[in-house]
Amino acid sequence: MDSMRIKGGKPLTGKIHISGAKNAALPLMAASLLTDGGLTLSNVPHLADIATMANLLGQHGVSLGLNGDHKNNGHTGRVMELKAEKITSITAPYELVRKMRASIVVLGPLLARCGEAKVSLPGGCAIGTRPVDLHIKALEQLGAEVVLENGYIHARAPKGLKGTQIVFPMVTVTGTENIMMAAALAKGETTIVNAAREPEVVDLANCLVAMGAEIEGIGSDKLRITGKDKLHAAHHDVIPDRIETGTFAMAAAITNGDMELIGGKLAHLNSVARILAEAGVSMEETPQGLRVRRANGLHGVDVMTEPYPGFPTDLQAQMMALMCVAQGASMITETIFENRFMHVPELRRMGANITVHNASAMIRGVPQLTGAPVMATDLRASVSLALAGLAAQGETILNRIYHLDRGYERLEEKLAACGADIERVREAA
Ligand code: EPU
Repeated sequence: MDSMRIKGGKPLTGKIHISGAKNAALPLMAASLLTDGGLTLSNVPHLADIATMANLLGQHGVSLGLNGDHKNNGHTGRVMELKAEKITSITAPYELVRKMRASIVVLGPLLARCGEAKVSLPGGCAIGTRPVDLHIKALEQLGAEVVLENGYIHARAPKGLKGTQIVFPMVTVTGTENIMMAAALAKGETTIVNAAREPEVVDLANCLVAMGAEIEGIGSDKLRITGKDKLHAAHHDVIPDRIETGTFAMAAAITNGDMELIGGKLAHLNSVARILAEAGVSMEETPQGLRVRRANGLHGVDVMTEPYPGFPTDLQAQMMALMCVAQGASMITETIFENRFMHVPELRRMGANITVHNASAMIRGVPQLTGAPVMATDLRASVSLALAGLAAQGETILNRIYHLDRGYERLEEKLAACGADIERVREAA
């Protein structure tokens, strides 16, 4: 397994191009299952999770072409052409779903298009139990018969799905996406109450509209979808990755650097910018993106994760790394996932002072972290350790970096271009 060697202590300066959003691109790719007309996506990031979704769609019969690079804001994102002329298999097998939970987003589109879908039940994962009961219940409300057999969700709606009102008892991002896609081909009108409002959900809704879907209330917590018999071909540009943007913003802040994040959108990061401002870090809009630097020391602040537009759980670990070197104390409360503090013991090994009590972590800032060999069990925890390594004195070896490759495009190249001393160490074959 490859690892990353980081020698800390260098302030990061310069420009980084933000890639297309992983969590927007994954459901957008699944939306190609809804039409035989073809879907062209541009600004698709080059990531392991995208390759997993491409494999999965390929085995459902979707033909897939990568069509060169697309210039966006000076950086190149890939153009992906997906065509689901005929669905050849309605099964999403265990071997692929266990690699990536987001595979669950093929359930709604397959069921709506084919009247049947069999998707392996995702198991628990490093950050929590992560059930999909709300996806299943909502599909049943749309008229599907769902049985759980041999580890698979087997959903059938031979006469098609029928619009109704779905009230989600808690906000679910991929749940909202699955139901929105299913409802786009259902008979009549579906209302989703307490819908997720994440920019990735908005991006999917906009793409579905470009494919001929009728959706009202986009960006709000109440979506009204009028089902169509058929959707058609479309082209859609994936939004920039707000979590990558926030991660690099924290890299600038933790190293006392000054970075411009090209393509980064402040409008998607308002809660993060507010918290960072309180901590003494400024995020200003520039003609091309966002400039981030410390404006005024670095102070401990309290943070609670929430569904959008609140502070994202996907930036919680990175924020904690930053708070490890802030002046004063900080309390970080995780409300979305029950087991998302796996970075804490590793940050402690680097000299951080953190105490966890239930869903809250109390961080008392230390003047300096020190490098250490560390490893993480999920994507965001891994990158938080990379951030800590960039600020630490001495050498950090980050192990199990396949997690990073799932969600960060060329992380070490982007950071090195801004002055970081970071390199990938390939495991000898
Ligand atoms: N939940 C249920 N039942 C369900 C669905 C969700 O109890 O049927 C619970 C979850 O266990 C969790 C909460 O509801 O406690 C919210 O989960 P949600 O469904 O919103 O998460 P998700 O859709 O599985 C997406 C992102 C995650 C991100 C979360 C929260 C994708 C592909 N994944 O997951 O991204 O953390 O929303 O914003 O969009 C990551 O990129 O590192 C990542 C984990």
